[in-house]
Amino acid sequence: MKKILYGGDYNPDQWLDRPDILKEDIRLMKKAGVNEVTMGMFSWAQLEPEEGIYQFDWLKDTIDRLWENGICVILATPSGARPRWLAEKYPEVLRTFQDGRKAQFGGRHNHCLTSPVYRRKVAEIDKRLAQAFGSHPAVRYWHLSNELGGECFCEKCQEEFRTFLRAKYGTIDALNHEWWTSFWSHTYRSFDEISAPSSIGENETNGLILDWKRFVTAQTASFMRCEVSALREGGAAQPVTTNMMYDYDGLDYDVLSKEEDIVSWDSYPEWGKDGLDYQASLDHGMCHDYMRSLKDKPYLLMESCPSATNWQPVSRLKRPGLLTAASAEAVGHGSDSVLFFQIRQSRGASEKFHGALIDHTGRDDTRVFKEASVIGVMLERLSEVTGSRTDAKVGLIYDTQNRWAIASSQGPRNSGAGYARLVQKFYRALKIRGVDVDVISQDHSYDNYRLLIAPMLYSIRGGSEKRLRSFTEGGGTLLMTYLSGVVNENDLCYLGDTPHGLTDVLGIRTKEIDGLWDGESNHIVGIMPGNHERTSYSCDTLCELAASLDSNVHMVYGDDFYKYKPVLTSHAFGKGTAWYLAADAEQDFINDLTETLLDQAGVSPVMDTVPPDVSVQSREDDKKRYIFAENYGTEVRQIAVPAGAKLLWGDKKGRLLPYSVLIYSVEK
Ligand code: GLA
Ligand code: ZN
Repeated sequence: MKKILYGGDYNPDQWLDRPDILKEDIRLMKKAGVNEVTMGMFSWAQLEPEEGIYQFDWLKDTIDRLWENGICVILATPSGARPRWLAEKYPEVLRTFQDGRKAQFGGRHNHCLTSPVYRRKVAEIDKRLAQAFGSHPAVRYWHLSNELGGECFCEKCQEEFRTFLRAKYGTIDALNHEWWTSFWSHTYRSFDEISAPSSIGENETNGLILDWKRFVTAQTASFMRCEVSALREGGAAQPVTTNMMYDYDGLDYDVLSKEEDIVSWDSYPEWGKDGLDYQASLDHGMCHDYMRSLKDKPYLLMESCPSATNWQPVSRLKRPGLLTAASAEAVGHGSDSVLFFQIRQSRGASEKFHGALIDHTGRDDTRVFKEASVIGVMLERLSEVTGSRTDAKVGLIYDTQNRWAIASSQGPRNSGAGYARLVQKFYRALKIRGVDVDVISQDHSYDNYRLLIAPMLYSIRGGSEKRLRSFTEGGGTLLMTYLSGVVNENDLCYLGDTPHGLTDVLGIRTKEIDGLWDGESNHIVGIMPGNHERTSYSCDTLCELAASLDSNVHMVYGDDFYKYKPVLTSHAFGKGTAWYLAADAEQDFINDLTETLLDQAGVSPVMDTVPPDVSVQSREDDKKRYIFAENYGTEVRQIAVPAGAKLLWGDKKGRLLPYSVLIYSVEK
């Protein structure tokens, strides 16, 4: 039976001496409509208190009891934090820092990715967990570790890095060429001489930095594979996932997601920061769309906070209704779950003040509990949405490896090239027009899109330029910007005209790029194609000097020695059009341009008019489209609900009070 999973992280292992509380938890969960809990994430010390002595009874009892009460389980492997005996007996499992210092026992997420001992010990307990619970009907998914991330610089990791490089380059000469090591006498004579980047060693060879990051991702993926094969050996056949993080670039999630069956992630917006909840909704909305696009299918919201998040600069209470809005929004973007961290608030240690469904009072009449219970009802009504897809016609490229390359490059703007900010500007422009967007890496297929926006694609790899070309040739609308097609995947500059391989598609070539100081700006003047009033906008941070080959120049710079040089151009190529934006334009410019691009590409929004501060999303299956709207502003807004729509949640006249939600379906 279809259902949106509703529940979250549950840590009965903290309450084993309180059977009364464990019993009460189940009553409260049922009362709130919870149908899932995630367990075992940090339970290694309870599951294997001494090496080789396993104690799974408490877990089995809990899972049995949950299942009897209709609650299913996402069961985690415990590799995110280890028991003391393990660290003491096998110190190699602990991480080594960049400067060679060794971590001591404590904290979490701090194991060596490579350590054969750690991998073996993890595999042993994973396999036993799989044997014990792999065929339990309650277990829906396996959750690998927790928020994987970080790097280890021990000698074993370094040796694996060298093996990774040997496989990638074959010969040391090939590596030296790609890393351009003739610079500053850094030539390597053999792979054995290579060390990871270090603040006290080599830290300015960009190719080394990028390959190290790729290696860390590859090693993390290999760690995941060890866990998965242990689970499979133990007889567990359920799909696996691991919880990813908001806007995290320590790993390339595009690569990592290949190791899991379903994507999941943890969303903790800084609600109310600068008084702008709508902005926080957009920030996290983009990450929702990114997570969905990793596999182009529904994913899981693995963690979110029922109220205040204790580790943020301020622990702000979620305003009444906000949890409902954010939960509905997650489902709107494509999540098949709304899960919290956490079900019961821990009594001590660092997360004692983290929001929870059940707080220290243990009551079922708290503000948070009551709102969560209403969400339980809402999600029940959304059961039919489970499994439905998002059919976005716009692809927005936000590429992790490109992000690494821009961040590690010295110049053109070390005080911030603004890659994420530029992508966010386009995302914002698309969402205020009410359009569904896929947020993708450059390696993703472009086949489903009519409009492809590729901001600042500095590092073009794997022949993406050829795919961008055929996308346009085949009738797509492409937008590229300044600082694109400059280097290959190893940060080696392309020789000849840039954007590499695309000058004839765009009808321009770039010549120089100007980095502006904070506070400095220029103007973009001319006629923006489409129906727009403004003829002058501002731009800042990076202004590129480009020459039009045979493109239409719509707008030009207003000031400085490059006054009248092109800023916005378009060029017909094959059946499509390629646009080029040469400067970091203000948000209003991006909004107007995006509207023009959407019109040209013939992309329809989810609804014709989207009121200010309202986030909208849609999902669909063979028969229906599901439309979601959440009001993050302080004004009452109105949505025009189409005739024949079936209301799933909210006001049937389409009125949206602050933080309220409207969800309806229409037949296709
Ligand atoms: C992360 C972790 C959880 C918990 C929460 C608190 O997302 O995965 O274990 O620490 O943060 O917000
Ligand atoms: Zn290591």
